[in-house]
Amino acid sequence: MKTTRVTTTDKPVDTFETDLLVYLVTQIKDKAPLCDKAVMAQVKKAFELGDFKGEEGEQLFYYPAAPGKKKQPTAKRILILGMGKIETENDEAMVCDTLREAGGHLAKACERTQAREIIICLPTLGTLTPEKTAECITEGALLGDYRFTKYKQVTRKKTDYTGIAAIKFACTTAVKSVRKGVAQGRISALAACAARDMAHEPGNGWTSAEFAAFAKALAKTHGLTYRCIEKKEMEKLGMGGILAVNQGSAIPPRLVILEYQPEKKSETLLLVGKGVTFDSGGISLKPGAGMEEMKYDMCGGAAVLAAMQAVGEEKPAIGVVAIIPATDNMPSGSAVRPGDIIHHFNQVTAEIVNTDAEGRMILADALAYGIKTYKPDGVVDVATLTGAVIIGLGHHFSGLISNNDNLALSLETAGRLSGEPLWRLPLNKHYKKQIESKVADIKNIGGKAGGSITAAAYLSNFVGKTPWAHLDIAGTAWNFTEKSYIPKGPSGIGVRTFLTLIRNWETGKLK
Ligand code: BES
Ligand code: ZN
Ligand code: ZN
Repeated sequence: MKTTRVTTTDKPVDTFETDLLVYLVTQIKDKAPLCDKAVMAQVKKAFELGDFKGEEGEQLFYYPAAPGKKKQPTAKRILILGMGKIETENDEAMVCDTLREAGGHLAKACERTQAREIIICLPTLGTLTPEKTAECITEGALLGDYRFTKYKQVTRKKTDYTGIAAIKFACTTAVKSVRKGVAQGRISALAACAARDMAHEPGNGWTSAEFAAFAKALAKTHGLTYRCIEKKEMEKLGMGGILAVNQGSAIPPRLVILEYQPEKKSETLLLVGKGVTFDSGGISLKPGAGMEEMKYDMCGGAAVLAAMQAVGEEKPAIGVVAIIPATDNMPSGSAVRPGDIIHHFNQVTAEIVNTDAEGRMILADALAYGIKTYKPDGVVDVATLTGAVIIGLGHHFSGLISNNDNLALSLETAGRLSGEPLWRLPLNKHYKKQIESKVADIKNIGGKAGGSITAAAYLSNFVGKTPWAHLDIAGTAWNFTEKSYIPKGPSGIGVRTFLTLIRNWETGKLK
């Protein structure tokens, strides 16, 4: 993956040559936009002529005739980029997203002008610290600069633009905290881009083996503890869920585990991500149209693994364990059948009524095993679990179901601050009743009504009393709300929410 250099300076912007010098401006009703004094004259003139108001994404370019000479700016081009209005009553989450969007627009402007080395003059916002301002712009720019071209081999030209190589933030004060913000934004954006890369890989390019290899490499780079439970051990441990889903596959299943523990003893958060590398539905085969999208059914696993990349780089104050049950879901003569009964890791038996409800089967074993082994203080699972969540929430919110109000609230806050909003759905005994089976402890589908909740009801049998939250990202893992920093295709959702949760963790509550 390309890694953009991001640096910070307090030297005057004209000290450096650059492809593009960027000023971000805020729109003010019926007035010239608020901007740095260096571009005040141009902005005022453009506003008076009616050419530029500073609306979100609005762009004004100008070109010094002789860059660097006769007291002219050293930049080849100067971009004045509108961010729209930032009102004092806007909350932090809103302002942060405005800045990410600005970063995204900026990345698009770079692509259009083929700019590779850029300088951003850090705007001063009354409502946000310089640190947070820099963090969000960095995040937006790197997320907006994302492209996946690995398999474009014949049609790709040598001259094709490959993205921003270097960003330099210019600021006059608070350089140290701006540097910290930039570093945080860079780490979270690159982690989300890593999750997008994994998701882009097709079912034959990203299998349980690739999950394991990525985790192993992360462990080596960052000193994390890596474990991979293979098929034989799963059989010994009695992980009937993941084994059943894998039964029809030619590729062995893997339970991939990464553990990070800080030096000072602390609480532990367990993250579990659904890693179905292709979901055909199995014997309950899905319709052909659109089935190719089911290569994205591993986005939960990608999110937790990518979050561990950031955890490895940042070494937060709390312990984090990530578990990815990884397999594809295929039909074959050996595949699990509707009606089959399986034994999960915690002895709970389940009647498999529909082999396409496979996510909950693999998550069940991973949750029960993870909780028993690591005794976490909180557990969050993330999965492209149900089509029903798309019916309920569309593509703008992920579903959240939890047995713990503190954890649910922390996640909601983390999601909002990260631009990845969550909407909580209920879960009580009436939904749990829908998955009672006549022949086993539970069954793996609960009828059409409340499909996302009955899926979570299934999972609730494997978490005991541990504070637990379930995120259903079926509607947001791809086709997420399109924004300048969220492209079509996989969004990398979940990664930045997890990081915000981890960075602010204080005994299960956001600080
Ligand atoms: N991976 C799918 C859920 C999904 C559907 C994700 C559409 C993204 C877009 C999951 O394994 C599945 O097939 N769920 C079934 C459950 C049903 C059989 C109870 C579904 O939602 O249709
Ligand atoms: Zn399925
Ligand atoms: Zn699935």
